[in-house]
Amino acid sequence: PPPKIAVGGAAVRDGRRRVALMAAVAACRRAGVSLLSLLLGAVLVLLLPLVGVEDRCCARLRGLDLLRCQLPPAAPSTGLTVPYTARDLLAVKVEISKGSVLEAQAALQQALEMKKQGKREKAHRLLVHALNMDPDSVDVLTELGTILEEEKDVVQADHLYTRALAISPCHQRALVSRHRTLPLVEEIDQHHFGVIDGKVRRLMSIPTGNSALRRVMEETYYHHIYHTVAIEGNTLTLSEIRHIIQTRYAVPGKSLQEQNEAVGVDAAMKYINATLLSRPGHVAVDHVLEIHRRVLGYADPVEGGRLRTSQVFVGHHVPPHPQDVARHMQDLVHWLNSDEALQLHPVELAALAHYKLVHVHPFLDGNGRTARLLMNVVLMQASYPPITIRKEQRAEYYAALDTANAGDVRPFIRFIAKCTEMTLDTLLIATTEHAVGLPGACRDCGQTIPVRS
Ligand SMILES: Nc1ncnc2c1ncn2[C@@H]1O[C@H](COP(=O)(O)OP(=O)(O)O)[C@@H](O)[C@H]1O
Ligand SMILES: [Mg+2]
Repeated sequence: PPPKIAVGGAAVRDGRRRVALMAAVAACRRAGVSLLSLLLGAVLVLLLPLVGVEDRCCARLRGLDLLRCQLPPAAPSTGLTVPYTARDLLAVKVEISKGSVLEAQAALQQALEMKKQGKREKAHRLLVHALNMDPDSVDVLTELGTILEEEKDVVQADHLYTRALAISPCHQRALVSRHRTLPLVEEIDQHHFGVIDGKVRRLMSIPTGNSALRRVMEETYYHHIYHTVAIEGNTLTLSEIRHIIQTRYAVPGKSLQEQNEAVGVDAAMKYINATLLSRPGHVAVDHVLEIHRRVLGYADPVEGGRLRTSQVFVGHHVPPHPQDVARHMQDLVHWLNSDEALQLHPVELAALAHYKLVHVHPFLDGNGRTARLLMNVVLMQASYPPITIRKEQRAEYYAALDTANAGDVRPFIRFIAKCTEMTLDTLLIATTEHAVGLPGACRDCGQTIPVRS
């Protein structure tokens, strides 16, 4: 409606309100009640619902503190100590309806009955259904973990016990079960790291002057830029990115923003190569800021190299309050340079550095690109080749980050280990004489070539 009518309407409403108020006041006067006591009464009525809220909040925070005290110590080899505040823990969670909870419980009971009758497959299916209905049911998680463990899928079983313990740290059965699976899973993961180390040794044995190696390393450089910006929706093709970086000429028809994103990652990688690789174990907050300044600076010069000053959200994850970001960053680099961290396998350290950075999400934008570069700094400082998370792996990558937020970071470490092995496979195949093509891994991001001793 035109403003005049709105103003007139508001005036009419105001007039009516004034008349009503005056009538009420007059009525009160008649009843011998002063205007002051009327106002005091209104304030009291407004404040009444807040009585007890503070107590309830304190009790909740005390409960969270207690819960935190009872958290089992982090698994020995991950050293994951992402700092959090009670505020982080209060992050909004997706509500599960009462109906779903009841259906999950019914399916659990039915599964137990089936298991008793020896119908394991049916029991398995019912438990998967129960978990879909109520992903936070500790009993379902533990029971499904037990079935998987009996079926020899110890990695998945361990994951389910870990999830159960993240929800209920004192769950006796989950604690005992995880105590059983943890060393086995550790062994499996260490074996995989051993396979990766074998491939790194093979790569290192190739003379640095090898022309095939130089060519494929150059190729992976452009691949990294292509995938790291494409993962976030940049539409530049690999050849367009190569053209922009090599010629410094713009590609017609493509947005300046997208081209600046590619130039930014290139600048950050050149900065890393020139400054950060000669001093292993020394990463400062300023280095991370300098990486970010280049990653984002061409597209957004104001935010490039600057910690965020407002709250951000990533899917269901609520990163720390902006006031806490600087402290979290200090904690992160303190951990990254600590003896405890440097004793981890480089792949594990690189994955955790990546995870911790995106968990804090210190920037308004460019967190993913910066985290993937920080991960490569860690790998290269340990003489591993830089790796690429391919855009086709986006869903798997995000799911692993979600799982880490839910309390189990190991699937993310395994995901990064797989990416490392795939990168190594590509380098090894390309430097093998009479190579017939890239490994299947690069077409279907799930396989890797077996190690040759
Ligand atoms: N659930 C999650 N928890 C933590 N980090 C996440 C989650 N999902 C995605 N991410 C990370 O956040 C990044 C996106 O954040 P953003 O600041 O937009 O980075 P960029 O602009 O470099 O893509 C993703 O690339 C990924 O690394
Ligand atoms: Mg972004």
